[in-house]
Amino acid sequence: MTNQLTSMNRRTFLTRTGGVAVAGLAFGVPSAIGKPHRLTLTEAEAQLTGPNNPKTRDWAFNGRVPGPELRFRQGDRLAVEVENRLPQETTVHWHGIRLPNAMDGVPHLTQKPIGPNEAFSYVFDLPDAGTYWYHPHMMSAEQVGRGLYGPLIVEERERIQVDRDVTWVLDDWRLDDNAQIDDGFGNMMDASHAGRIGNTITINGRAPEPFPVRRGERIRLRLINAANARIFGLEFAGHKPTVIAYDGQPVEPHAPGSGRVVLGPAMRIDLVVDMMGKPGEHFTITDSFYRRSTYPLVEISYGTEPLRERPLDAAVALPANTMPEPDLPNALRHDVLFQGGMMSMMIEREMGGSSDMSGGMGSMMEMMQSGRVWRIDGIASVGHVMKPMLTLERGRTAILAMTNMTAWPHPMHLHGHSFRVISRGGQPTRFREWQDTVLILPRERVEIAFVADNLGDRMFHSHILEHQAAGMMGVIRIA
Ligand code: C2O
Ligand code: CU
Repeated sequence: MTNQLTSMNRRTFLTRTGGVAVAGLAFGVPSAIGKPHRLTLTEAEAQLTGPNNPKTRDWAFNGRVPGPELRFRQGDRLAVEVENRLPQETTVHWHGIRLPNAMDGVPHLTQKPIGPNEAFSYVFDLPDAGTYWYHPHMMSAEQVGRGLYGPLIVEERERIQVDRDVTWVLDDWRLDDNAQIDDGFGNMMDASHAGRIGNTITINGRAPEPFPVRRGERIRLRLINAANARIFGLEFAGHKPTVIAYDGQPVEPHAPGSGRVVLGPAMRIDLVVDMMGKPGEHFTITDSFYRRSTYPLVEISYGTEPLRERPLDAAVALPANTMPEPDLPNALRHDVLFQGGMMSMMIEREMGGSSDMSGGMGSMMEMMQSGRVWRIDGIASVGHVMKPMLTLERGRTAILAMTNMTAWPHPMHLHGHSFRVISRGGQPTRFREWQDTVLILPRERVEIAFVADNLGDRMFHSHILEHQAAGMMGVIRIA
């Protein structure tokens, strides 16, 4: 790393109002039927690291990172024509949307990959409001890592009252001294540890600049973590954010536990923040997830003109979405074990697991050579077509009781469903939050429950993209 880039990392980061206006220009406000949008994947360039640094050659939707913010209203039909002008095959996955299997964008499993110079039309209904995102599901570590992702916002039919609706797509890039993307995708060092952690953070594809606000302003802040591997833990100095949704799904409004807003890869959190600093004041939002490498993420900068002296007196709770309630007494219970990766032996011994495949350095070497480093229920799967780890009858409630016997956190994602997180460490969760990606820390046990109502073979995988590629992926069949 040059000093230049390193010092840039310490600077605060630019934020903009999520490209709402720009996306609006490009697409207009979609009607209920939805004029088809077009997303074209190409090689592009982005000014990721600030105006005095070279541009970064990246891959992008419609030439920009993030791709255009697609905005719809709950109940609309999305229609997007995806055109691939990259040298690799691709697909697009609409992360978090409860859609038919054929639209899920999983190569070979739900569709034929979109080859170079080919196109594919995605058309499906949007049953739930919320903050979602789209990204390729083919060679994800590389394609997402090179900049292919964008926000997908589904507005509530009845909106809560805020002064501004802002999207921040967070990303973490691994750049070289010339601000170019490091080509070492898929190396076993990353795959067997924390994944590809980068050295340059962007918000909405931009380097830092203070975020301008006014005293009294109420902002709905939609956070999306599009990083391959980095987990964010944001502290809002001098402010009291209220969580109103996880992964797009409404939750009883509450202050974030431990005062930090924690987002694993692929997770989203909607906050309501009342900006109650004084005119001219500045505050720093800090990312302290990895305690020893805490850094200032972005500055909140108050203008001189206050908007109002007291916070708005309006409710912030979102209307419920349409997921069916899990039938817990009649649920099918299934234990899921995560194993593998570096330093797993110690944890497995401690937790009393069998060390069958992970005993000793010899087998670790073997795992690395074969690219199968992580296991779900004893199986390391590569590629997207595999024998299901679990088959569920349609309409049945399932409880997955997951145990993380590895030394690393994993954001576990299930396609086509939102699930309730019902317990952590044997304790019922306070909010029984709906999520589609749940972060499970080392040694942690987490239970989730959902009604398996969406037919087809559904991916279940770690959203640390290097872990996913190195075995941490399964399929749940709903038949
Ligand atoms: Cu966001 Cu299977 O992915
Ligand atoms: Cu993982």
